[in-house]
Amino acid sequence: MADIACTINGQNRGLNAEPGETLLVALRRAGFFSVKHGCDTGECGACMVLLNGAPANTCITLAAQAEGREVTTVESLRVNGQLHPLQQAFMDEGVGAVQCGFCLPGVLLAAKHLLDHNPAPTEDDVRDVLSGHLCRCTGYRTQVSAVLAAAARLRGESVGQRDDTAALAEESGLKVVGHGEGKVDALPLLTGRPVFTDDFKIDGMLHARILLSPHAHARIRDIETSKAEALPGVRAVLTYKNTPRRPFTTAGQSYPELSPYDMVSLDNKVRFVGDRVAVVAAETPEIAERALGLIEVEYEVLPACLTPEKAMQPGAPIIHDEPDAERIYDASRNLAAHIVATKGDTVRGLEAAALVLDRTYRVPQVQQTPLETHTCITYLDEYDRLVVRTSTQVPFHTRRIVANVLGLPVKRVRVIKPRLGGGFGSKQEAVVEDLCGHLTLATGRPVRLEYSRHEEFTASRSRHPQTIRLRTGVSRDGTITAIDMWVTAAAGAYATHTLTVQANTGSKALWLYKSPNLYFSADCYYTNVPPPGAFRGYGAPQGFLPLEVHMDEVAEALGMDPMAFRRKNWVGIGDTNPLGDQLYDAAPGFHDEISSCGLPECVERGQAAIGWEGRGVHAVPGRPHLRRGIGGACAMQGSAVPGIDMGAVIIKINDDGSFNLLSGAVDTGGGGDTILAQIAAEVLGCPVDDIIVYTSDTDFTPFDKGAYASSTTFLSGRAAQLAAERVREQVLAVASRMLECDQHELTLADRRVASPDGDSVSLADIAIQTLHRENQFQIMGHASYMSRPCPPPFCAQFAEVTVDIETGEVRVEKIVSALDVGMPINPRGVEGQNDGGVTQALGYAVCEEMVYDEQGQLLNPRFGSYHIFQAHEMPELCPITVETWEPSGPFGAKAAAEIPVDAVAPAIVNAVANATGVRIRELPLTPERVLQALKAAGVSG
Ligand code: FES
Ligand code: FES
Repeated sequence: MADIACTINGQNRGLNAEPGETLLVALRRAGFFSVKHGCDTGECGACMVLLNGAPANTCITLAAQAEGREVTTVESLRVNGQLHPLQQAFMDEGVGAVQCGFCLPGVLLAAKHLLDHNPAPTEDDVRDVLSGHLCRCTGYRTQVSAVLAAAARLRGESVGQRDDTAALAEESGLKVVGHGEGKVDALPLLTGRPVFTDDFKIDGMLHARILLSPHAHARIRDIETSKAEALPGVRAVLTYKNTPRRPFTTAGQSYPELSPYDMVSLDNKVRFVGDRVAVVAAETPEIAERALGLIEVEYEVLPACLTPEKAMQPGAPIIHDEPDAERIYDASRNLAAHIVATKGDTVRGLEAAALVLDRTYRVPQVQQTPLETHTCITYLDEYDRLVVRTSTQVPFHTRRIVANVLGLPVKRVRVIKPRLGGGFGSKQEAVVEDLCGHLTLATGRPVRLEYSRHEEFTASRSRHPQTIRLRTGVSRDGTITAIDMWVTAAAGAYATHTLTVQANTGSKALWLYKSPNLYFSADCYYTNVPPPGAFRGYGAPQGFLPLEVHMDEVAEALGMDPMAFRRKNWVGIGDTNPLGDQLYDAAPGFHDEISSCGLPECVERGQAAIGWEGRGVHAVPGRPHLRRGIGGACAMQGSAVPGIDMGAVIIKINDDGSFNLLSGAVDTGGGGDTILAQIAAEVLGCPVDDIIVYTSDTDFTPFDKGAYASSTTFLSGRAAQLAAERVREQVLAVASRMLECDQHELTLADRRVASPDGDSVSLADIAIQTLHRENQFQIMGHASYMSRPCPPPFCAQFAEVTVDIETGEVRVEKIVSALDVGMPINPRGVEGQNDGGVTQALGYAVCEEMVYDEQGQLLNPRFGSYHIFQAHEMPELCPITVETWEPSGPFGAKAAAEIPVDAVAPAIVNAVANATGVRIRELPLTPERVLQALKAAGVSG
């Protein structure tokens, strides 16, 4: 290793680096964990530092280039415990601006560089600077506000605080719930503390690299690893030959999983370009990489099926011909899953209709792209138990999956979930943990396995692409008489989440409008492409794109206003899901009757905010090639999986009257830990600061199904409320003895319990009384919660677009997103979820798509070519929160995480149709696709 003389954060010190090593690797090895790995190509900004005061992406900077220069990282911004004004501004902006936090070190340094040179930037200046920093969580709006607020403060100007209290919280006298409390983990995220999976050092760690398949479909005739094993520094090379064959699914679902057991850790067959062939552990990542090149593989290349249309052909190559796969619907036809659900008789319903519309729509395969790639570190602890430190949304499912695949009893596996750098469903899968565990068992050494961005694109998970045929019958007055929906989906190489995602397409979308007759079917075919899986919305965005475009088309055919047509047919309080019992894998007794519904208000406020009455104006003055349009769409989701999902919380008191809250729930960045703290604090009469949240570690926190299906607020939040109520009972019982007063006369607020005569004791007094005087028990409560109700949140989303009819470019100018998520436990958090979800859905609508060549090679496996929205490209975002009170939710709350992704894409498609008169039924709306459609309709020159 060479010594590089440089100054880091004002201190003269050296950096050790191998020749050719990047500054990113050298800085992280030296303990500067704020410098993040988000890509390897200089395209995301997560690794940025200031080099002699200028921004530099360290993943594409050699460590040697730091010689004699000054390196500044985020660790330097907080001085003597005092936050930099930028950090303070982000802290003040709250849960919206600080979500997973993985992008923040780069964002803060870029903003610092801007303000150092331009103390009075405009919003465009800020967006321009942030354009080099991808954020998959926030939609940038609140981050831009934070930078502008910091600039104002640095100029000595005062910055007003906006009201962030829910009206329902005011009315109900709630002191913590319903208020925009700060994020409980904001400080470590803003100061670059080592909180993520890879921010961890352990002696003797090996580095793993995976050999990925170059073929879409091939049998491995032989594999020769002796040269790789002989390379100095290589400690293990695993292939199908020396790895136990145990079929499993990577899907993090309740046991027994509904996904088939159709993969093994290392197989003698590969089923997509990027599938696992072998895995190596070595002393350095470079040696592991070199070893991959020494593995000799003899492939028998097989014909591949890249699309469902090909996979369903008679005589098509069979992708899963292995005899030990379990629960595949019909492997001989490549049919991974098949679903049918009906209500009434759609044939008769369509016959009775005055108008029948029959249309086909297509939605693409897109990626979650959390900024933190899948990362895992495994090691054996002092008791020889396997510890799995991993970026997972489902720690308890991961423990069970890993134990099964490795042949260990569950009690010998411990899963630790540090902070997550985003997930969006992709980490609802145990994608890397089994390989890492195999290597630790093989070597006895700690092993680190981190996906590159290329691997994240090619070997992670994504959203299922679908072709959807929709047929709707309506009577003359606009009453729906029947709806048929047929889905054909690509399951990819392994059918993880395939059945349940596609079932969700029907179960979420098909009951937004009342129809006496419904039919839903889904055929999901194995294909030789990377497997889709769970992605925020979980099938619902695929369902609402066709449904909500179709509703506009039906309204147009009837000559009705599209929102008036929806209003005539949409569901409301008291309605239940007619297909729910057939499409949910739920325990008996679940029900999804609607008991709160803010959809009408969402539409009303959304229409006002977008300027619905102006949707007849299409001309853009002085720009004859541009057409302006406005469109809208509605959607509904669910709150957790009824009768299946379960959360649990433990709360215990400390000597000073503070509380530990232990939960197996997972905060993927959206503020779940803060929500749990707010709920507990409200019940326990203390500030959020007094609730120390710890999530999650399978050894120390109670069981929780994890972060999916929008479950944290609704389900784990209810468990937190129940646990806190049990603690509160104990607090009051002790206080009644101390105050010699009946328990029911006591009040608990502001950290004190008071009797009617004015006497009081503090929570700290009560803690001391129980822990050190009475010495009989610790005040402690726990609760588990499973919900049979599954209350749907609702949304109405609207888009204003400008379409260039000469180029086909669709420019989205503004998105209004009105959500009904019940009581917003943290109004800023709800807005943050709203912005982030809308931005992901915006990409789904206009640019994101995984594109393959004819050999099944992904053509856009990097941020630059895949294209997620950047700060300077964003439309105006207008989040609206409509408050309702959901009786089954904690303090009236419903889920908020998924609903914002559901209706943006159809709103944009409908806006384009409003602008041009041309309805495009396939996403994304790329300029080529739009131009082609316009030309076909004779709209474009
Ligand atoms: Fe360096 Fe992405 S730009 S990690
Ligand atoms: Fe920016 Fe998560 S907060 S990537």
